[in-house]
Amino acid sequence: MRILVCKDYDEMSQKAAQMISSQVMLKPDCVLGLATGSTPIGMYKKLVQMYQEKMIDLSEVTTFNLDEYLGLSKDNEQSYHYFMQNHLFDHVNVKPRRIHIPNGNTENVDDECNFYDQLIAKSNGIDIQVLGIGNNAHIGFNEPQISFEKGTHVVELDDSTREANARFFETLDEVPKQAITMGTGTILKSRKIMLLASGRAKAKAIYDTVHGHVSPEVPSSILQFHPDTVLILDEEAASLLSEKDYKRL
Ligand code: F6R
Repeated sequence: MRILVCKDYDEMSQKAAQMISSQVMLKPDCVLGLATGSTPIGMYKKLVQMYQEKMIDLSEVTTFNLDEYLGLSKDNEQSYHYFMQNHLFDHVNVKPRRIHIPNGNTENVDDECNFYDQLIAKSNGIDIQVLGIGNNAHIGFNEPQISFEKGTHVVELDDSTREANARFFETLDEVPKQAITMGTGTILKSRKIMLLASGRAKAKAIYDTVHGHVSPEVPSSILQFHPDTVLILDEEAASLLSEKDYKRL
C-alpha cells in the first residue's frame, strides 16, 4: 500500500485528478471505477477543468460507480445518478452509453446486482477504482461485518452512515436504509485502487486501514491484501500515521 500525504484537500484533489488523467492518457479506453460523497467532488472539479482546457479526453472511457441508494430514481436529487451528472458527466465527454451506475429503482435487485458484476467483467475489469472511506471504515457501502468475498449486493446502511449522509437530505428519515454496492470482492478485482480521504474525522479509519488487523469490522483493511493500492490523504486524515508510513507531496 502506497501512501501519499498532501497539504490539504485542494492538493489531494489535484493529485487524484492527475492520476486519473495519467491513466486515461496511457489507456484512452480504460475503465474507471468512480465514487460519490463529498471527498471526490474536488477531484471531479479538477477533471472538468482539465477537460475544458483540452488536457483530457474521456470519449473512450467506460465508468462504473460503486453504489446507489435503493429506492431512489435517477432524477432524484439525492441519488448518486444525479450526483454524477451534476459533478462530472454533464461537463465532460464520457459517452452516456459507457456510464454505469447501479439502478436503485430496479424491480429485481438480485438480477441488477448480478448484471452489474457481469457488465464489469465484460468490460474487462476496472483499471482504476476511486474510493472514499466512511468514518466507520466502510468502502463503497460495505459496512463493518461484511463478508469480504461478496460481489455487488444489497446492504442495510449503518445508522452512523445514514447520520453522516443526512447532511444531503432534509431529514434523517429521508435517508434510504438500503443501497446497492459493489462488494469488496468486486472492488478488489480492480487493477489499481486509489482511496482518497480528507479531514480529521477520517484519521482513525485511515490508521486502521493501514495498521489494523484485516477483519470485517474494518472493511477497508482488506486493501492491505490488494497489490496496487494508493492512499491519497490530506494532513488531517493522515494525522494518526507516523511520518515513516508515507511520502509527503
Ligand atoms: C460513495 C461511497 C462511500 C463514501 C464514504 C465517504 O460512493 O461509496 O463509501 O466514499 O461514505 O463519504 P464522504 O466522502 O462524503 O465522506
